Amino acid sequence: MPPRALAPWLTPLKTHLTSPSATTSFTLTTIAHTTHGHAVPRARTVEFRGFFPTLSLHPSGIKSLKEQNIGLNPDIYESEMIAVTTDVRMEKVGELGSSGGVVEGMFWLAEVGEQWRVKGKGFVLGGKEGEEEREVVGRGLRLKEGGKEKEKEEGEWTWERQVDMYFANHSPAMRGTFKNPPPGTPRSQDPGNPQLKLGQKVEDLRDEVARANFRVLVIRPEEVERLDLQDPENVTRTRWTAGRDGEDWEEAELWP
Ligand SMILES: Cc1cc2nc3c(=O)[nH]c(=O)nc-3n(C[C@H](O)[C@H](O)[C@H](O)COP(=O)(O)O)c2cc1C
Repeated sequence: MPPRALAPWLTPLKTHLTSPSATTSFTLTTIAHTTHGHAVPRARTVEFRGFFPTLSLHPSGIKSLKEQNIGLNPDIYESEMIAVTTDVRMEKVGELGSSGGVVEGMFWLAEVGEQWRVKGKGFVLGGKEGEEEREVVGRGLRLKEGGKEKEKEEGEWTWERQVDMYFANHSPAMRGTFKNPPPGTPRSQDPGNPQLKLGQKVEDLRDEVARANFRVLVIRPEEVERLDLQDPENVTRTRWTAGRDGEDWEEAELWP
């Protein structure tokens, strides 16, 4: 994973998303197929979990990772890839698999009057992902200054531990939702497994049932568009398009 420059749009988007008053949920759209094979859009709200793999870990998450002998990955990588956590049993995961991973994330940042649309591909980590997912996401990582030395001092960075860290950063109640009855199935239908019920709290970061369902979805952006409505007399629309392999972003000012 050679060092690479980060995208020019990252700083403005990151600044907005990490400000205390920021909206951090966004609309994520995928493509589904009807039983007749027609492509149809599917949208839902998801929570932005930072730019992979940077995590602002909650103190209780850090405590659990240490106490349960998982530890923390050294903070040596950064990227412009968006992280989301999800349940493998939800529709979006299958939709990514059957549509080549295409996604669009849409943020309406009302506080600053900006809409950001991020088009790209989604990759799912935390199951028995193939080498391909790690390879593509890995190519999107940038080793921070002094990263190699830090890894030697603090220990090896691993994909498994990174997923553990996202799980640890959820509250016990949120971790418990990964043991809910199958999302989207009729409530009248018995889940058929007494371990699957609402309102559970999970302390064990290796809880088998919850971890079998927990996933980290990483979106690798290919085209990003910012619509800035702050000045009604001069609305601006900027589009950045990635070159081959997600680098060398080309910027274009468009009429809004
Ligand atoms: C504010 C808000 C935040 C949400 N965050 C997430 C999230 O981070 N991940 C997720 O999978 N679902 C999240 N959901 C639930 C989704 O909107 C959706 O109901 C669920 O993911 C099932 O969608 P699917 O079957 O199309 O995959 C959130 C919903 C709301 C209202």
